[in-house]
Amino acid sequence: MTSARLGARELTLAYDGSPVVSTLDLDIADGSFTVIVGPNACGKSTLLKALARVLRPRSGAVVLDGAEIASYPTKEVARRLGLLPQSPLVPPGIVVEDLVARGRFAHQRLLRQWSAQDADAVSDAMRLTGVTDLADRYVDELSGGQRQRVWLAMVLAQQTSIMLLDEPTTFLDLAHQIDVLDICAELHEGGRTIVAVLHDLNQAARYATNLVVMEAGRIVAQGPPAEILTADLVATVFGVPCLVIPAPATDTPMVVPLHRSHRTAATPAVPANAG
Ligand SMILES: Nc1ncnc2c1ncn2[C@@H]1O[C@H](COP(=O)(O)OP(=O)(O)O)[C@@H](O)[C@H]1O
Ligand SMILES: [Mg+2]
Repeated sequence: MTSARLGARELTLAYDGSPVVSTLDLDIADGSFTVIVGPNACGKSTLLKALARVLRPRSGAVVLDGAEIASYPTKEVARRLGLLPQSPLVPPGIVVEDLVARGRFAHQRLLRQWSAQDADAVSDAMRLTGVTDLADRYVDELSGGQRQRVWLAMVLAQQTSIMLLDEPTTFLDLAHQIDVLDICAELHEGGRTIVAVLHDLNQAARYATNLVVMEAGRIVAQGPPAEILTADLVATVFGVPCLVIPAPATDTPMVVPLHRSHRTAATPAVPANAG
């Protein structure tokens, strides 16, 4: 069995009311590129927040390097894992370079405030995400796509071996989606553990070494995309009849939704919250 530094044990997560995620078990294999998919509101972001200790479990635990994540000091968690939230709040009046520099927070010491290593981490992260030219721009004046890359740069600057990315490709045009996924793939090849929530099943199948399919707060399938991504699974979980065929060039599974006229009366309707 592959080792896992990060995992969930009988994790139940809730906000005010009934559980959003129920008794969920998950191991994030070291060095994996894990992609989480599932319909809107099934609990993907909630799970990611708990894995990053932003959300405290109602019951169960998140385990990081053999100890409950709740037992670590904040900076220690931030040195081990980085989170790109789904809708991060931009601090008002901040410029790009300063926001990316915030990724170095966990590496600062009381007596050693800012080092050449910090500066290098920031400039490397900005170069990799293509935001170097935006360094002096106000973050709240950027386009959605530019802003998304700046946030990714901030998480990269943190230089953690585990990165949790909630919809890192949202707001990006196709070229920048592929850019971001290729950056993730490079980081993965370099030995990082990547956990990303994605909406595009074909991109998920193309990049994931482990695909985690969620539905209503539970994991309903998990494994290498080629082994688990079937037309039945997509129809059941997303309510979309489809074909699953090998993608040209990559040979990873490709989901081709069927046109309405090809659906039979027996196939499920698209749920109201899908999209
Ligand atoms: N801060 C919050 N307070 C209360 N309910 C929330 C909050 N965030 C998410 N939820 C609810 O939890 C459920 C799961 O949300 P989320 O994890 O964001 O889903 P996903 O990321 O899969 O789209 C949804 O029903 C959502 O309305
Ligand atoms: Mg979400």
